[in-house]
Amino acid sequence: MNRLGYISVLISHFFTPATNTPLKANIVLLPGDGIGPEIVTQAQRVLETVAKSFGHQFEFSSHMIGGIAIDTCGDPLPQETIDACRDADAILLGAVGGPKWDDPSAKTRPEVGLLKIRKELGLFANLRPIRLFDELLDASPLRRDIIEGTDILFLRELTGGIYFGESGTGGNGQEESAYQSMVYSVGEVERIVRLAAKAAQGRGNRLTSVDKANVLEPSRLWRRVAAKVMQEEFPDVQYDVVLVDAMAMHLINRPSDFDVVVTGNMFGDILTDEASMLPGSLGMLPSASLGSDGPGLYEPIHGSAPDIAGQEIANPLATILASAMLLRHSLGLESEATSIESAVQAVLSDGLRTHDIARGGEAIGTNSMGSAVVDRLTV
Ligand code: IPM
Ligand code: MG
Repeated sequence: MNRLGYISVLISHFFTPATNTPLKANIVLLPGDGIGPEIVTQAQRVLETVAKSFGHQFEFSSHMIGGIAIDTCGDPLPQETIDACRDADAILLGAVGGPKWDDPSAKTRPEVGLLKIRKELGLFANLRPIRLFDELLDASPLRRDIIEGTDILFLRELTGGIYFGESGTGGNGQEESAYQSMVYSVGEVERIVRLAAKAAQGRGNRLTSVDKANVLEPSRLWRRVAAKVMQEEFPDVQYDVVLVDAMAMHLINRPSDFDVVVTGNMFGDILTDEASMLPGSLGMLPSASLGSDGPGLYEPIHGSAPDIAGQEIANPLATILASAMLLRHSLGLESEATSIESAVQAVLSDGLRTHDIARGGEAIGTNSMGSAVVDRLTV
């Protein structure tokens, strides 16, 4: 079984069951900024190929988010984009942001668009699987003997915590200050911990909750609520808690000890960037953001990489793997998802590499990598 297959077990209650009948789906593309358009184009080619070979009909429409939306209409998330996303069966996003929009005194920022679409669609659960590819083990900055066997599924809470807390500024000179509050409610903690525990049941049956309960009040609530959910509803799942600073250390020291990890919004942001280095390149990792109903949003973990945008050298594999997650979780198309993941595996086994994973060896471009996956899909 494909190693990403477990996720469908965990959220199958959210979505349509696997089907062999032809499916019509409306997929919204949000290419965004930087390398976003280049990598989303490749994922779209892959999805079109899958539709053709499995007899499905996918309709794509492209909408603006992030910096490009600010430049075009002054809003990082135009209402038109929100409406299109609400009507979609699933959403595939590239990336947002770049130095052009980094002015701290600007009225708005590309990232605001991303946070808003998560909130508007109620995408409270961000699944970030950290999966190793054998072929790329030597691309990791860590020693092979440390990372071997690593297979972690992070569940990051995505619509609460400090990212969405009340904020403000005031005062002048030395007295000028700024604040942002971190708030978690019982309901917010319960739903993400439940999902994480179900995920654990579908794989290694172990769950680690990460917090900073020795300092932060919301972390103490998180720890108490999580313990109650685990004790009352999942007594069979092996459960432990780790402080976030210690977790940062364990991820480098003994990453293969973890199975499913659940944590809040900001800790999850930081820890998943750290963990994304384990497999060697940020360019290989997909993610899914899911709510209790409505469309899911799928994107690579990496950002818009403005330094290499437009050069046709970006690695499209994370976005292609995100499109596999889209088929699995939003459309219930397990075999189709697996076919994409197998094609990516085949491309790597054949030695094809984009520059981020080439380690000084021969590298192919974005479009060639997309074509290589498409070729291996065509049966
Ligand atoms: C991520 C990103 C975003 C986040 C930014 C771009 C707002 O870093 O998805 O991890 O912090 O959530
Ligand atoms: Mg991040």
